Amino acid sequence: MAIRMNPTIELLKSHRSIRKFKDTPVGDQTLKTILEAAQCAATSNHVQAYTVIRVNDEKIRREIARLSGPQTWVEQAPLFLVFCADLNRLEKACSRHTKKMAQGFAEQFVVATVDTALLAQNTMIAAESLGLGGVYIGGIRNDPQKVCDLLQIPEKAYPVFGMCLGYPDHDPPVKPRLPVEAILKTDRYDRENENSCLQAYDRVTNTYYQTRDSNLKDQTWTGQMAEFMSKKIRPHMKSFLKNRGFFIR
Ligand SMILES: Cc1cc2nc3c(=O)[nH]c(=O)nc-3n(C[C@H](O)[C@H](O)[C@H](O)COP(=O)(O)O)c2cc1C
Repeated sequence: MAIRMNPTIELLKSHRSIRKFKDTPVGDQTLKTILEAAQCAATSNHVQAYTVIRVNDEKIRREIARLSGPQTWVEQAPLFLVFCADLNRLEKACSRHTKKMAQGFAEQFVVATVDTALLAQNTMIAAESLGLGGVYIGGIRNDPQKVCDLLQIPEKAYPVFGMCLGYPDHDPPVKPRLPVEAILKTDRYDRENENSCLQAYDRVTNTYYQTRDSNLKDQTWTGQMAEFMSKKIRPHMKSFLKNRGFFIR
């Protein structure tokens, strides 16, 4: 039986990254509404291990746009947020009760990073529900120490990604995802459908890349992933995270 669509599912299925924005500003009340909704995301043990930094300062914005690529939309977006995984508030909670926070566990890193990602995705959805659009900016991890210096982010916190938000000034098509059969398995990790799923998905993505409005290319998903995943990606991250006090044991 076909499942009836509802507005939430329609909204989720209409997501596409937005990289061109109208000049219309995003008001403080709108941002507050979005973040209050975002904070309702589930959070591991209620730790809420995150901090969001809104970057209004033009010079800092320009510098982050540059080190992220450059990515012009980081400079142009009405709103640019940096999502930090952050254990500082939790350390403060410990000290208020004369306890010492355990330090540097990989599990704390996972918890804080996952919490931050859930907050961010709720932010994106809440923003989209109000007619805004946006794009995540992992590019800030090209030089995460510089981002920490620019935004005075203390140790035991790190910038996971940025996010541009604003009212869309273009209307790109939705990018097709893998078929559910490729990502859903039942009872065991079987690999039976793997090749046929990838073959079918390569056809779908190739059509997408050859027919979308701009940046047309003769590319497939596996082709792109082969390119991307065979490169050493941001090898500085391990020592950066260790220096921040994460991921030591
Ligand atoms: C954690 C994360 C980091 C990303 N970093 C960037 C980025 O630095 N620049 C950019 O233009 N897009 C970035 N993206 C957007 C992805 O490229 C995009 O979500 C993906 O290609 C799927 O396209 P869609 O969002 O339009 O569906 C990022 C997405 C995620 C989730």
